[in-house]
Amino acid sequence: MRIILCGFGVVGQSLVKLLNSRSDDLYAKYGLKPRIIAVSDSKGSAVDTAGLSLEKLIEVKKKFGTIKNYGNIKNNMSGIDLIKNIDADVMIETTASNYKDAEPGMSHIITAMKRKMHVISVNKGPLALAFPSLVELATYNQVIFKFSGTVGGGTPILDYAKNSLRGERIMSFSGILNGTTNYILTNMTNGSSFDIALKDAKDKGYVEADESLDLDGLDAAAKLVILANWVMDMKVTLPDIDCKGIRNVTTEDIKKAIKNNCSIKLIASCDKELKVQPRQVSIDDPLCVNGTLNAIAFTSEHSGTQTIIGKGAGGIETASSILRDLLEIRQEIAKI
Ligand code: HSE
Repeated sequence: MRIILCGFGVVGQSLVKLLNSRSDDLYAKYGLKPRIIAVSDSKGSAVDTAGLSLEKLIEVKKKFGTIKNYGNIKNNMSGIDLIKNIDADVMIETTASNYKDAEPGMSHIITAMKRKMHVISVNKGPLALAFPSLVELATYNQVIFKFSGTVGGGTPILDYAKNSLRGERIMSFSGILNGTTNYILTNMTNGSSFDIALKDAKDKGYVEADESLDLDGLDAAAKLVILANWVMDMKVTLPDIDCKGIRNVTTEDIKKAIKNNCSIKLIASCDKELKVQPRQVSIDDPLCVNGTLNAIAFTSEHSGTQTIIGKGAGGIETASSILRDLLEIRQEIAKI
């Protein structure tokens, strides 16, 4: 399977490490032989249609901060150049999410689909802004579009709702979909001020480069868009979400919640409306998880409410979701 990898940050590098450590058993168990033939980062590219050395990719990135120094001639190509000029089976999109125009991820995905490549995206931006049209484009071009890692990182939230609850009608869901704000709110419940809790989260590397994505609820809203489309068949995008972040949560609010035997959590919910907002959650509710954990409760017509809890971020966790997607693509291609 020939792969173009766009973006070589924490997730991209974790994926390469994961594929390297699992190459023998992936082939023996699943018949999957991934061959990464091109990688782009923000400074340049590495290309070898015979297959790039996974160890060397990691070494070069570590030493020079870019894979541009991998040693091939075509080292100035951008992600879009790679997709336009190199034939591949799958394009994996791992560049950073942005919710203004979702570039460069949006163009990577659209161009790859038009070039008949299957697409795996862990970048939420394009899905938040254009989920319905991207799914349509994938169908039109008869390619597979996977995005397991966009919600819940390595925790298979989308798969659970779509596949484990197959045949059920999900009536509503609500959850904590952003680990960073959950960490901050947990620390505030334990007595920190907002500023100290935010600084601690920053020191631990949890906060996005653009802190507004976490604090103003955009990241949670993007995940809500993906869930609403995928699980509830809604045709919605980011502007459809009524979104409020955690900046205005005061220590008074936190104390009031504690008196009610509750904690304040940033809850993304899909009921009659699509909302992201801080809410009191009873500490006895399984949804009331602490630290950077994510949790989501699905309520379906006949099987009641189930809550899934897990890590919602992390390089290796998200890389494992890409591997799941690759295996599904492999399986689906084998059926044709
Ligand atoms: N900033 C996100 C979070 C990362 O804190 O959950 C994972 O999408």
